[in-house]
Amino acid sequence: MSKFAVLGHGVVGSGTVELFNMNRELIHKRQGIDLELGYILDIRDFPGLPYSDKFTKNIDDILNDDEVTVVAEVMGGVHPAYDFVLACLNKGKSVCTSNKELVAKKGAELLRAAKEHNCNFMFEASTGGAIPVLRPMHTCLAGNEITRIAGILNGTTNFILTRMIEDDMDFADALKLAQDNGYAEKDPTADIEGHDACRKICILSSLAFGRHVYPEWVHCVGISGITIEDVAYADKAGYSVKLIGSVECVGDKILPMVAPRFVPKSCELSSVSDVFNGIMLYGNGFDQIMFYGKGAGKLPTASAVLGDVIDCAKKSGTDMSGFWEDSADNSFIADYKTQTVRKYIRAAGTDRAKVTTLFGDVRFLSRDSAPSDEVAFITSPMTETDIREKCEKLGQVKSDIRIYNA
Ligand code: HSE
Repeated sequence: MSKFAVLGHGVVGSGTVELFNMNRELIHKRQGIDLELGYILDIRDFPGLPYSDKFTKNIDDILNDDEVTVVAEVMGGVHPAYDFVLACLNKGKSVCTSNKELVAKKGAELLRAAKEHNCNFMFEASTGGAIPVLRPMHTCLAGNEITRIAGILNGTTNFILTRMIEDDMDFADALKLAQDNGYAEKDPTADIEGHDACRKICILSSLAFGRHVYPEWVHCVGISGITIEDVAYADKAGYSVKLIGSVECVGDKILPMVAPRFVPKSCELSSVSDVFNGIMLYGNGFDQIMFYGKGAGKLPTASAVLGDVIDCAKKSGTDMSGFWEDSADNSFIADYKTQTVRKYIRAAGTDRAKVTTLFGDVRFLSRDSAPSDEVAFITSPMTETDIREKCEKLGQVKSDIRIYNA
Protein backbone atom coordinates (compact mmCIF):
# COMPACT_ATOMS: atom_id res chain seq x y z
CA MET A 1 0.00 0.00 0.00
CA SER A 2 1.33 3.48 -0.97
CA LYS A 3 -0.38 6.52 0.45
CA PHE A 4 -0.47 9.85 -1.40
CA ALA A 5 -1.87 13.30 -0.63
CA VAL A 6 -3.29 16.02 -2.87
CA LEU A 7 -2.60 19.70 -2.09
CA GLY A 8 -5.48 21.76 -3.48
CA HIS A 9 -8.98 20.75 -4.55
CA GLY A 10 -9.47 23.14 -7.47
CA VAL A 11 -9.93 22.09 -11.09
CA VAL A 12 -6.77 19.96 -11.36
CA GLY A 13 -6.92 18.70 -7.74
CA SER A 14 -10.51 17.50 -8.02
CA GLY A 15 -9.65 16.04 -11.45
CA THR A 16 -6.73 14.11 -9.95
CA VAL A 17 -9.01 12.62 -7.26
CA GLU A 18 -11.71 11.87 -9.86
CA LEU A 19 -9.29 10.12 -12.23
CA PHE A 20 -7.71 8.17 -9.37
CA ASN A 21 -11.09 6.99 -8.10
CA MET A 22 -12.13 6.07 -11.65
CA ASN A 23 -9.00 3.99 -12.34
CA ARG A 24 -7.81 2.81 -8.93
CA GLU A 25 -8.46 -0.89 -9.59
CA LEU A 26 -6.89 -0.71 -13.03
CA ILE A 27 -3.79 1.00 -11.61
CA HIS A 28 -3.53 -1.73 -8.98
CA LYS A 29 -3.90 -4.51 -11.56
CA ARG A 30 -1.74 -3.08 -14.33
CA GLN A 31 0.91 -1.20 -12.36
CA GLY A 32 1.03 -3.60 -9.43
CA ILE A 33 0.70 -0.77 -6.98
CA ASP A 34 -2.00 -0.40 -4.36
CA LEU A 35 -2.35 3.38 -4.09
CA GLU A 36 -4.42 4.95 -1.37
CA LEU A 37 -5.52 8.59 -1.22
CA GLY A 38 -4.60 9.68 2.32
CA TYR A 39 -5.38 13.40 2.44
CA ILE A 40 -6.64 16.36 0.44
CA LEU A 41 -5.42 19.73 1.71
CA ASP A 42 -7.66 22.73 1.09
CA ILE A 43 -8.71 25.70 3.21
CA ARG A 44 -12.23 25.46 1.81
CA ASP A 45 -14.93 23.01 2.91
CA PHE A 46 -16.35 20.45 0.49
CA PRO A 47 -19.26 18.80 2.32
CA GLY A 48 -21.21 15.98 0.72
CA LEU A 49 -18.42 14.49 -1.37
CA PRO A 50 -17.94 10.69 -1.12
CA TYR A 51 -14.37 11.39 0.01
CA SER A 52 -15.14 14.27 2.43
CA ASP A 53 -13.32 12.43 5.23
CA LYS A 54 -10.00 12.90 3.41
CA PHE A 55 -9.93 16.70 3.76
CA THR A 56 -7.57 18.54 6.07
CA LYS A 57 -6.68 22.19 6.47
CA ASN A 58 -3.38 21.41 8.18
CA ILE A 59 -0.25 20.55 6.13
CA ASP A 60 1.30 18.99 9.26
CA ASP A 61 -1.20 16.10 9.01
CA ILE A 62 0.50 15.19 5.74
CA LEU A 63 4.07 16.05 6.76
CA ASN A 64 3.83 13.98 9.95
CA ASP A 65 2.26 10.90 8.37
CA ASP A 66 5.20 8.66 7.46
CA GLU A 67 2.94 6.45 5.34
CA VAL A 68 2.47 9.33 2.87
CA THR A 69 5.37 8.96 0.45
CA VAL A 70 4.04 10.99 -2.51
CA VAL A 71 2.33 14.39 -2.61
CA ALA A 72 0.55 15.96 -5.61
CA GLU A 73 0.78 19.77 -5.47
CA VAL A 74 -1.99 21.25 -7.62
CA MET A 75 -2.69 24.51 -5.79
CA GLY A 76 -1.00 26.86 -8.28
CA GLY A 77 0.91 30.05 -7.44
CA VAL A 78 4.24 30.26 -5.66
CA HIS A 79 3.12 30.80 -2.05
CA PRO A 80 2.24 28.80 -0.07
CA ALA A 81 2.82 26.02 -2.66
CA TYR A 82 6.62 26.49 -2.52
CA ASP A 83 6.73 26.28 1.27
CA PHE A 84 4.58 23.13 1.33
CA VAL A 85 6.54 21.45 -1.49
CA LEU A 86 9.90 22.21 0.10
CA ALA A 87 8.68 20.91 3.47
CA CYS A 88 7.49 17.66 1.83
CA LEU A 89 10.78 17.16 -0.05
CA ASN A 90 12.77 17.87 3.11
CA LYS A 91 10.80 15.05 4.75
CA GLY A 92 11.76 12.71 1.88
CA LYS A 93 8.28 12.72 0.31
CA SER A 94 8.27 12.88 -3.51
CA VAL A 95 6.26 15.76 -4.98
CA CYS A 96 4.42 15.81 -8.32
CA THR A 97 3.13 19.18 -9.49
CA SER A 98 1.18 20.83 -12.30
CA ASN A 99 2.34 24.26 -11.11
CA LYS A 100 4.39 25.79 -13.93
CA GLU A 101 4.91 29.09 -12.10
CA LEU A 102 6.48 27.21 -9.19
CA VAL A 103 8.76 25.12 -11.43
CA ALA A 104 9.76 28.10 -13.61
CA LYS A 105 10.67 30.19 -10.56
CA LYS A 106 11.93 27.62 -8.05
CA GLY A 107 12.66 24.46 -10.07
CA ALA A 108 16.45 24.32 -9.56
CA GLU A 109 16.14 24.70 -5.79
CA LEU A 110 13.35 22.12 -5.48
CA LEU A 111 15.19 19.60 -7.67
CA ARG A 112 18.26 20.00 -5.43
CA ALA A 113 16.14 19.48 -2.31
CA ALA A 114 14.66 16.30 -3.83
CA LYS A 115 18.13 14.96 -4.67
CA GLU A 116 19.41 15.71 -1.17
CA HIS A 117 16.52 13.77 0.37
CA ASN A 118 16.52 10.88 -2.10
CA CYS A 119 13.05 11.56 -3.40
CA ASN A 120 11.62 13.03 -6.59
CA PHE A 121 10.31 16.38 -7.77
CA MET A 122 8.23 15.66 -10.89
CA PHE A 123 6.28 18.13 -13.02
CA GLU A 124 5.11 16.48 -16.24
CA ALA A 125 1.71 18.24 -15.91
CA SER A 126 3.33 21.68 -15.81
CA THR A 127 4.11 21.73 -19.53
CA GLY A 128 1.83 20.49 -22.30
CA GLY A 129 -0.95 19.28 -19.94
CA ALA A 130 -1.59 15.62 -20.75
CA ILE A 131 1.29 15.38 -23.25
CA PRO A 132 4.26 13.34 -22.01
CA VAL A 133 7.11 15.59 -23.16
CA LEU A 134 9.38 16.27 -20.16
CA ARG A 135 9.94 12.62 -19.19
CA PRO A 136 10.83 11.55 -22.78
CA MET A 137 13.39 14.36 -22.93
CA HIS A 138 15.44 12.89 -20.09
CA THR A 139 14.67 9.21 -20.64
CA CYS A 140 13.96 7.96 -24.20
CA LEU A 141 15.78 10.91 -25.81
CA ALA A 142 18.56 11.15 -23.21
CA GLY A 143 21.21 10.03 -25.72
CA ASN A 144 20.77 13.17 -27.82
CA GLU A 145 21.82 16.77 -27.69
CA ILE A 146 18.60 18.75 -28.01
CA THR A 147 19.27 21.73 -30.26
CA ARG A 148 15.91 23.41 -30.59
CA ILE A 149 12.37 23.33 -29.18
CA ALA A 150 9.36 25.15 -30.60
CA GLY A 151 5.79 24.72 -29.56
CA ILE A 152 2.27 25.89 -29.05
CA LEU A 153 2.30 25.79 -25.27
CA ASN A 154 -0.87 27.64 -24.31
CA GLY A 155 -4.32 26.25 -25.08
CA THR A 156 -6.27 29.44 -24.39
CA THR A 157 -4.36 31.61 -26.86
CA ASN A 158 -4.42 28.84 -29.45
CA PHE A 159 -8.20 28.66 -29.09
CA ILE A 160 -8.48 32.44 -29.55
CA LEU A 161 -6.21 32.48 -32.61
CA THR A 162 -8.06 29.50 -34.12
CA ARG A 163 -11.39 31.31 -33.82
CA MET A 164 -9.84 34.42 -35.43
CA ILE A 165 -8.45 32.30 -38.29
CA GLU A 166 -11.42 29.98 -38.88
CA ASP A 167 -14.39 32.18 -37.93
CA ASP A 168 -13.12 35.70 -38.73
CA MET A 169 -13.76 36.68 -35.12
CA ASP A 170 -11.92 39.69 -33.78
CA PHE A 171 -9.65 39.30 -30.77
CA ALA A 172 -12.14 40.62 -28.17
CA ASP A 173 -14.97 38.30 -29.30
CA ALA A 174 -12.66 35.28 -29.45
CA LEU A 175 -11.36 36.04 -25.94
CA LYS A 176 -14.92 36.31 -24.64
CA LEU A 177 -15.75 32.94 -26.21
CA ALA A 178 -12.65 31.40 -24.57
CA GLN A 179 -13.84 32.80 -21.21
CA ASP A 180 -17.41 31.56 -21.79
CA ASN A 181 -16.01 28.08 -22.52
CA GLY A 182 -14.00 28.16 -19.30
CA TYR A 183 -10.62 28.08 -21.05
CA ALA A 184 -9.39 31.57 -20.20
CA GLU A 185 -9.30 32.88 -16.66
CA LYS A 186 -11.51 35.89 -15.73
CA ASP A 187 -8.22 37.82 -15.69
CA PRO A 188 -6.69 36.30 -18.81
CA THR A 189 -3.43 38.31 -18.67
CA ALA A 190 -1.12 35.33 -18.00
CA ASP A 191 -2.48 33.54 -21.07
CA ILE A 192 -2.83 36.37 -23.61
CA GLU A 193 0.35 38.23 -22.68
CA GLY A 194 2.38 35.01 -23.02
CA HIS A 195 3.41 34.63 -19.34
CA ASP A 196 2.01 31.09 -19.11
CA ALA A 197 3.82 30.00 -22.30
CA CYS A 198 6.93 31.75 -20.99
CA ARG A 199 6.93 29.64 -17.81
CA LYS A 200 6.61 26.51 -19.94
CA ILE A 201 9.47 27.44 -22.27
CA CYS A 202 11.58 28.17 -19.17
CA ILE A 203 10.93 24.62 -17.94
CA LEU A 204 11.65 23.06 -21.34
CA SER A 205 14.81 25.17 -21.77
CA SER A 206 16.11 24.39 -18.29
CA LEU A 207 15.60 20.67 -18.81
CA ALA A 208 17.08 20.65 -22.32
CA PHE A 209 20.14 22.80 -21.57
CA GLY A 210 20.78 21.97 -17.90
CA ARG A 211 20.69 25.50 -16.45
CA HIS A 212 17.75 27.27 -14.86
CA VAL A 213 16.18 29.78 -17.22
CA TYR A 214 14.18 32.35 -15.23
CA PRO A 215 11.06 33.93 -16.80
CA GLU A 216 12.40 37.49 -16.52
CA TRP A 217 15.26 36.57 -18.88
CA VAL A 218 12.93 35.57 -21.70
CA HIS A 219 11.75 37.97 -24.41
CA CYS A 220 7.99 37.53 -24.19
CA VAL A 221 5.29 38.96 -26.45
CA GLY A 222 1.64 37.93 -26.22
CA ILE A 223 -1.24 37.96 -28.70
CA SER A 224 -3.27 40.95 -27.50
CA GLY A 225 -1.91 43.07 -30.39
CA ILE A 226 -2.91 40.58 -33.11
CA THR A 227 -5.75 41.83 -35.30
CA ILE A 228 -8.11 40.22 -37.77
CA GLU A 229 -6.24 42.15 -40.51
CA ASP A 230 -2.96 40.40 -39.59
CA VAL A 231 -4.71 37.02 -39.63
CA ALA A 232 -6.15 37.81 -43.09
CA TYR A 233 -2.74 38.80 -44.52
CA ALA A 234 -1.20 35.64 -43.04
CA ASP A 235 -3.91 33.39 -44.44
CA LYS A 236 -3.63 34.74 -47.98
CA ALA A 237 0.16 34.41 -47.88
CA GLY A 238 0.05 30.75 -46.72
CA TYR A 239 0.61 31.17 -42.99
CA SER A 240 -1.31 30.68 -39.70
CA VAL A 241 -0.69 33.02 -36.79
CA LYS A 242 0.37 31.04 -33.69
CA LEU A 243 1.86 31.92 -30.29
CA ILE A 244 5.15 30.02 -30.27
CA GLY A 245 7.37 29.32 -27.27
CA SER A 246 10.83 28.49 -28.55
CA VAL A 247 14.43 27.98 -27.56
CA GLU A 248 17.43 27.32 -29.76
CA CYS A 249 21.19 27.17 -29.56
CA VAL A 250 22.95 30.32 -30.76
CA GLY A 251 26.68 29.64 -30.68
CA ASP A 252 27.49 28.77 -27.08
CA LYS A 253 24.33 30.52 -25.82
CA ILE A 254 20.64 29.77 -26.00
CA LEU A 255 17.78 31.99 -27.12
CA PRO A 256 14.45 31.32 -25.36
CA MET A 257 11.50 33.39 -26.53
CA VAL A 258 7.71 33.62 -26.62
CA ALA A 259 6.19 35.50 -29.54
CA PRO A 260 3.38 35.29 -32.07
CA ARG A 261 4.65 33.95 -35.40
CA PHE A 262 3.51 33.50 -38.97
CA VAL A 263 3.79 29.69 -39.22
CA PRO A 264 3.86 28.28 -42.79
CA LYS A 265 0.81 26.10 -43.45
CA SER A 266 3.19 23.32 -44.55
CA CYS A 267 4.54 23.12 -40.95
CA GLU A 268 2.83 20.65 -38.60
CA LEU A 269 2.46 23.32 -35.90
CA SER A 270 0.13 25.38 -38.11
CA SER A 271 -2.53 22.67 -37.94
CA VAL A 272 -2.53 22.48 -34.11
CA SER A 273 -5.93 24.04 -33.38
CA ASP A 274 -8.19 25.05 -30.52
CA VAL A 275 -7.00 24.13 -26.99
CA PHE A 276 -4.50 21.57 -28.28
CA ASN A 277 -0.76 21.97 -27.76
CA GLY A 278 1.98 20.83 -30.14
CA ILE A 279 5.67 20.72 -29.31
CA MET A 280 8.52 20.08 -31.80
CA LEU A 281 11.85 18.86 -30.47
CA TYR A 282 14.99 18.80 -32.58
CA GLY A 283 17.99 16.64 -31.60
CA ASN A 284 21.24 15.47 -33.11
CA GLY A 285 20.19 11.80 -33.15
CA PHE A 286 16.40 11.63 -33.43
CA ASP A 287 16.28 14.62 -35.81
CA GLN A 288 12.73 15.86 -35.21
CA ILE A 289 9.81 14.70 -33.04
CA MET A 290 6.43 16.29 -32.53
CA PHE A 291 4.33 15.86 -29.38
CA TYR A 292 0.63 16.65 -29.67
CA GLY A 293 -2.37 16.49 -27.35
CA LYS A 294 -4.59 18.33 -24.91
CA GLY A 295 -2.51 20.99 -23.17
CA ALA A 296 -5.12 22.09 -20.64
CA GLY A 297 -8.27 20.94 -18.88
CA LYS A 298 -9.25 19.07 -15.74
CA LEU A 299 -8.74 15.39 -16.61
CA PRO A 300 -5.96 15.84 -19.22
CA THR A 301 -3.85 17.69 -16.64
CA ALA A 302 -4.84 15.22 -13.91
CA SER A 303 -3.67 12.41 -16.20
CA ALA A 304 -0.10 13.78 -16.13
CA VAL A 305 -0.20 14.40 -12.36
CA LEU A 306 -1.44 10.89 -11.64
CA GLY A 307 1.17 9.38 -13.97
CA ASP A 308 3.89 11.09 -11.94
CA VAL A 309 2.30 9.95 -8.65
CA ILE A 310 2.22 6.33 -9.86
CA ASP A 311 5.85 6.47 -11.04
CA CYS A 312 7.01 7.95 -7.72
CA ALA A 313 5.08 5.36 -5.73
CA LYS A 314 6.39 2.47 -7.86
CA LYS A 315 10.01 3.61 -7.75
CA SER A 316 10.15 5.06 -4.27
CA GLY A 317 13.74 5.80 -3.24
CA THR A 318 15.04 6.07 -6.83
CA ASP A 319 16.04 9.40 -8.33
CA MET A 320 14.01 9.72 -11.54
CA SER A 321 13.74 13.49 -11.96
CA GLY A 322 15.33 15.32 -14.84
CA PHE A 323 17.84 17.69 -13.29
CA TRP A 324 19.28 21.13 -13.94
CA GLU A 325 21.64 23.45 -12.08
CA ASP A 326 20.71 26.89 -10.84
CA SER A 327 22.18 29.80 -12.81
CA ALA A 328 23.81 32.80 -11.18
CA ASP A 329 23.22 35.14 -14.13
CA ASN A 330 21.82 35.24 -17.65
CA SER A 331 25.13 35.44 -19.53
CA PHE A 332 24.20 32.22 -21.37
CA ILE A 333 21.07 33.82 -22.86
CA ALA A 334 21.57 35.37 -26.33
CA ASP A 335 20.27 38.87 -27.10
CA TYR A 336 17.26 38.47 -29.40
CA LYS A 337 17.78 41.96 -30.85
CA THR A 338 21.07 40.97 -32.48
CA GLN A 339 19.76 37.74 -34.05
CA THR A 340 18.65 37.63 -37.66
CA VAL A 341 14.91 37.32 -38.22
CA ARG A 342 12.31 37.82 -40.97
CA LYS A 343 9.24 39.81 -39.94
CA TYR A 344 5.80 40.58 -41.27
CA ILE A 345 5.11 44.30 -40.97
CA ARG A 346 1.83 46.15 -41.49
CA ALA A 347 1.90 49.93 -41.68
CA ALA A 348 -0.44 52.79 -42.53
CA GLY A 349 0.27 56.19 -44.10
CA THR A 350 3.05 54.89 -46.35
CA ASP A 351 3.58 53.21 -49.71
CA ARG A 352 5.47 50.39 -51.39
CA ALA A 353 8.19 52.69 -52.79
CA LYS A 354 9.10 53.84 -49.28
CA VAL A 355 9.11 50.24 -48.03
CA THR A 356 11.52 49.20 -50.78
CA THR A 357 13.80 52.18 -50.19
CA LEU A 358 14.05 51.37 -46.49
CA PHE A 359 13.93 47.55 -46.43
CA GLY A 360 15.26 46.56 -49.88
CA ASP A 361 14.00 43.20 -51.09
CA VAL A 362 10.64 42.34 -49.43
CA ARG A 363 7.58 40.19 -50.18
CA PHE A 364 4.46 42.38 -50.37
CA LEU A 365 1.23 40.81 -49.07
CA SER A 366 -2.42 41.53 -49.89
CA ARG A 367 -5.84 41.11 -48.31
CA ASP A 368 -9.41 41.98 -49.33
CA SER A 369 -10.63 45.52 -48.58
CA ALA A 370 -7.25 46.88 -47.46
CA PRO A 371 -7.17 50.71 -47.24
CA SER A 372 -5.13 52.29 -50.05
CA ASP A 373 -2.48 53.70 -47.69
CA GLU A 374 -1.88 50.34 -45.92
CA VAL A 375 1.12 48.21 -46.80
CA ALA A 376 1.98 44.74 -45.51
CA PHE A 377 5.18 42.88 -46.30
CA ILE A 378 7.68 40.28 -45.13
CA THR A 379 11.26 41.46 -44.73
CA SER A 380 14.45 39.70 -45.78
CA PRO A 381 16.48 38.33 -42.86
CA MET A 382 17.88 41.18 -40.74
CA THR A 383 18.39 41.93 -37.07
CA GLU A 384 15.54 43.06 -34.83
CA THR A 385 17.54 46.24 -34.14
CA ASP A 386 17.75 47.01 -37.89
CA ILE A 387 14.04 46.31 -38.36
CA ARG A 388 13.12 48.64 -35.50
CA GLU A 389 15.26 51.47 -36.90
CA LYS A 390 13.71 51.13 -40.33
CA CYS A 391 10.18 50.91 -38.89
CA GLU A 392 10.67 54.24 -37.13
CA LYS A 393 11.20 55.89 -40.53
CA LEU A 394 8.41 53.99 -42.28
CA GLY A 395 5.20 55.54 -41.01
CA GLN A 396 2.58 54.27 -38.65
CA VAL A 397 3.54 50.63 -37.93
CA LYS A 398 0.44 48.73 -36.82
CA SER A 399 1.86 45.22 -36.41
CA ASP A 400 5.11 43.35 -36.60
CA ILE A 401 5.18 39.58 -36.26
CA ARG A 402 8.05 37.12 -36.58
CA ILE A 403 8.12 34.53 -39.36
CA TYR A 404 8.54 30.97 -38.06
CA ASN A 405 11.54 29.12 -39.49
CA ALA A 406 10.21 25.62 -40.13
N1 HSE B 1 -4.04 28.46 -19.07
C1 HSE B 1 -3.28 27.34 -19.55
C2 HSE B 1 -3.57 27.13 -21.03
C3 HSE B 1 -3.64 26.11 -18.75
O1 HSE B 1 -4.54 27.73 -21.55
O2 HSE B 1 -2.84 26.41 -21.70
C4 HSE B 1 -2.71 24.95 -18.93
O3 HSE B 1 -1.41 25.24 -18.53
